[in-house]
Amino acid sequence: MKILVVGSGGREHAIIKKIKENKNVECIYALPGNAGMEDDAICVDIKASDLDGIVRFAEESKVDYAVVAPDDPLVAGCVDRLSSKGIPCFGPDAKAAIIEGSKVFSKELMKKYGIPTAAYEVFSDASNALEYVENCSIPVVVKADGLALGKGVIIAMTREEAKAAIVTIMEEKKFGASGNEIVIEEFLEGPEVSVLSFTDGKVIKPMISSMDHKRALDGDRGLNTGGMGTIAPNPYYTEAVAAECMEKIFLPTVKAMNAEGRSFKGCLYFGLMITKDGPKVIEYNCRFGDPEAQVVLPLLKSDLLTVMKATTDGTLAETPVEFYDESACCVIMASEGYPASYKKGFELNIPADVAGNVFVAGAERKDGLLVTNGGRVLGATAVADDLPLAVEEAYELVSRISFENAFYRKDIGARALKAMEE
Ligand code: AMP
Ligand code: GLY
Repeated sequence: MKILVVGSGGREHAIIKKIKENKNVECIYALPGNAGMEDDAICVDIKASDLDGIVRFAEESKVDYAVVAPDDPLVAGCVDRLSSKGIPCFGPDAKAAIIEGSKVFSKELMKKYGIPTAAYEVFSDASNALEYVENCSIPVVVKADGLALGKGVIIAMTREEAKAAIVTIMEEKKFGASGNEIVIEEFLEGPEVSVLSFTDGKVIKPMISSMDHKRALDGDRGLNTGGMGTIAPNPYYTEAVAAECMEKIFLPTVKAMNAEGRSFKGCLYFGLMITKDGPKVIEYNCRFGDPEAQVVLPLLKSDLLTVMKATTDGTLAETPVEFYDESACCVIMASEGYPASYKKGFELNIPADVAGNVFVAGAERKDGLLVTNGGRVLGATAVADDLPLAVEEAYELVSRISFENAFYRKDIGARALKAMEE
């Protein structure tokens, strides 16, 4: 079988490595992939945003199955385009991907179907939004409606910050049309849990839970990033919490999407906060999280391609989705300065015996050498019997990888380890 994977980051590398475990896979094309994946996939220089190029390549190369991993092509209808040419795909169509593509849509869905989330108001007019934050309770959270490279959420600790966020998003249009509408919502408190799930629109099978570390610096300080590391499973996601999530959030979301004529197939990601009033949805994503995928997929015992195809074919009920009873930790090695400005082009040294545990996000080949080419450069993932061991081994991997200007958090997993002691 020939498989095509759209995307280029660490998540895509994790997906590719897992799909490769299936003996029937003869080759995997990554569009565009990056030079750090060359041992696992054939990288083709077609951007994830180039839907015409993707469809043309898929047809010409006669791929048997396509996996669309990033949010932008999903929201833009990449799965619709490929499916219309008879190429089966993993991922939601555009109608369903709106669950991530529009925060106004997802908030209204949750309100309509009674799915627990932060209280909110929607604004399409900056002056009304500015008036609202004169009197609302503070802190408050301001969110651009559309996709904004993970930067469209501002936690405003003061009224001034809330007003500045409204001006930046709605008037200065920092995120373009994504800021035509905004959601202003209640600030929630509690530990965060990421739950990725497989769904075929009929049944939903949650994957092992995980915890992201979104801030750039140790102690959850610094700017928000795409994610600086992850652990799985998440100790805050107890069996009782899982049961409550299934009853009040997961199943109702699948049913709500069906009722709206937007049946979701693929990976539905629930960003949850475990508040004192129970779990609430912070956000939905229409895809695997990154770096969540870099701990969740290595723990998947079942064959990934088989499960993916079951979501496409509607046979997920009969398809087992099992995880190893182990723990994983992924530490992201980034370029110093990320998520703001950073230098790139430094030689990347990944010893051969650790390469199997490394998912490369940002690398290119220059004069035959592998060099850094991104903010997040790679994720080093260790799988072990328990979390303390996984954390220790992940940092051991990191100590063996080197490139100039490397930067990583030293406390990935620390919060989870503390929670396990309490
Ligand atoms: P998002 O880009 O939607 O994942 O949001 C980024 C981060 O902002 C989340 O991981 C949370 O830590 C935080 N966040 C989003 N919404 C809220 C909220 N209503 N209350 C508190 N924190 C929030
Ligand atoms: N790690 C969070 C995300 O992928 O959106």
